[in-house]
Amino acid sequence: MIDFKEEIVGLIKREVECLSKDEIRPLIELPPSYEMGDYAFPAFRLAKEFRKSPNLIAQELADKFSNEEIFEKVESAGAYVNFFIDKERLVKTVFDAIIDKGDDYGSSNIGKGKTVIVEFSSPNIAKPFHIGHIRTTVIGNSLYKIYKFLGFNAIAINHLGDYGTQFGMLIFAYKKWGNKEIIEKDPINELLKLYVRFNSEADENPELREEARYWFKELEDGNKEAVDLWKWIREISLKEFERVYNMLNIKFDSYAGESFYSDKMDRVVQELEDKGLLKESDGAYIVDLEPYGMPPALIKKSDGSTLYTTRDITAAIYRKEKYDFYKNLYVVASQQNLHFKSWIKVIELMGYEWANDCVHIPFGMVSLEDGTLSTRKGRVVFLEDVLNTAVDKTLEIIEERNPDLANKEKVAKQVGIGAVVFQELFNQRIKDYVFSWDRTLSFEGETGPYVQYTHARCNSLLEKGKFNIDNKVDYSLLKTDDEINIIRLLYNFNRVVIDSMEKNEPYFITRHIVEIAKSFNKFYNSTPIIVENEELKKARLLLVYGTKTVIKTGLGLLGIEAPQKM
Ligand code: ARG
Repeated sequence: MIDFKEEIVGLIKREVECLSKDEIRPLIELPPSYEMGDYAFPAFRLAKEFRKSPNLIAQELADKFSNEEIFEKVESAGAYVNFFIDKERLVKTVFDAIIDKGDDYGSSNIGKGKTVIVEFSSPNIAKPFHIGHIRTTVIGNSLYKIYKFLGFNAIAINHLGDYGTQFGMLIFAYKKWGNKEIIEKDPINELLKLYVRFNSEADENPELREEARYWFKELEDGNKEAVDLWKWIREISLKEFERVYNMLNIKFDSYAGESFYSDKMDRVVQELEDKGLLKESDGAYIVDLEPYGMPPALIKKSDGSTLYTTRDITAAIYRKEKYDFYKNLYVVASQQNLHFKSWIKVIELMGYEWANDCVHIPFGMVSLEDGTLSTRKGRVVFLEDVLNTAVDKTLEIIEERNPDLANKEKVAKQVGIGAVVFQELFNQRIKDYVFSWDRTLSFEGETGPYVQYTHARCNSLLEKGKFNIDNKVDYSLLKTDDEINIIRLLYNFNRVVIDSMEKNEPYFITRHIVEIAKSFNKFYNSTPIIVENEELKKARLLLVYGTKTVIKTGLGLLGIEAPQKM
């Protein structure tokens, strides 16, 4: 594919000696509307060197470039040089690539030879998998897919919260009040009940907390009873989580969670000691981070048991040794900002030059319209219930709109779950947002169903018009504004995927495919597609095919399916 931006960088470099290509590249902008061209270059930076006004420089540059054949025209507007790419060339480069690459259109191998770990979801065992977990789960899954698509060796890790003092509580509570059969019938709810009961009884009788600490220490020391109970709790909880992952089509390459590091921490604690970083404080061991304006990192409690931070430090070192990662990403709520800053600092103090390849990818909170997520109210909304509700509601809508649809149940799953995921990925990660059923399930506006529906519409047009990818198309027939608008968006999809990887922001893709769907529907309403004129029909169907392909790929990168009919 021609990289038009790179071509422009080269041309500017030819005229502007004083800037390097690397300096020119970030100056090039995508104008807010195509009336201002496909690309723009502001001349402000050159005023000093050229000893002329930026407006005059822009004008002279525009004149110099206007004969280049990749442009339809080049204009100056104030201090900007606006570049309009030659339409035929644009159409040709887009469709040559789409025909050649098909579903791989937009992919690349820029990540070749580089391993990127994406750690996401990581729920705590024996606790409900609730709506609060949805963000890490779907953002992480999408990033994982984006990195893969760009040729990275991406590894999805679920750092299960399957270790720590709360297991002391659970083991103790189970021994005292638990019943195996009851728990196996409804593991998460029953384990949660035990957990809640433990906490309320311990408020009355603080000695219970001693018992819990004792049992966690026993677990760490390998007491068989404790280990067997813990294994069982982990197994039945994981089965519950896997049901949700299956609904979302999510697969992990590794479930090495916190417990995985239980026998690997001694070495790291020793290393901290050897490097002179460990300090005693009230019988516990810490790394002092005061010089960096942070509270101390807790490494070991006074009873010798280890902590969340110890496990993260150990996990990072282990991952570096095992995977030799290029980046090690953690998709974890912004509430844990300090935790990540702190342990990554410890890694740095240990002298590991790769410390800053460990990157926390934070995100904001989600809440429900009726405020049911607030812990004060104490009500938990299970993620599985949200997904099931979405599927049920979608099925109702389908029954209304299209009762004769084949495979209604399957489509309702694809659309209902897709709708929830889409809304999660519609905004910048860091923003808090309120989950809305109406917005999520609407077939109109900027929603998953709307985009999926556009994809299905493309699909039926291709069927109806008997589209054949081997047909030769006269590209010059694609030239109306509505057509060129879509083609520009299809072209820019390549850039958008790379941007979303560089910023770790899947929502760039979400927004872009919404734009494609909107432009497509505008075209669909303005332009007959299955027309008498064979040549015209073939050309327009190719545009439909390109739209369908890019929407499907984009949805796929978000972790959303694209049903053929809906
Ligand atoms: N299990 C933790 C929680 O639910 C999230 C783990 C985040 N990952 C990490 N490496 N610390 O809050």
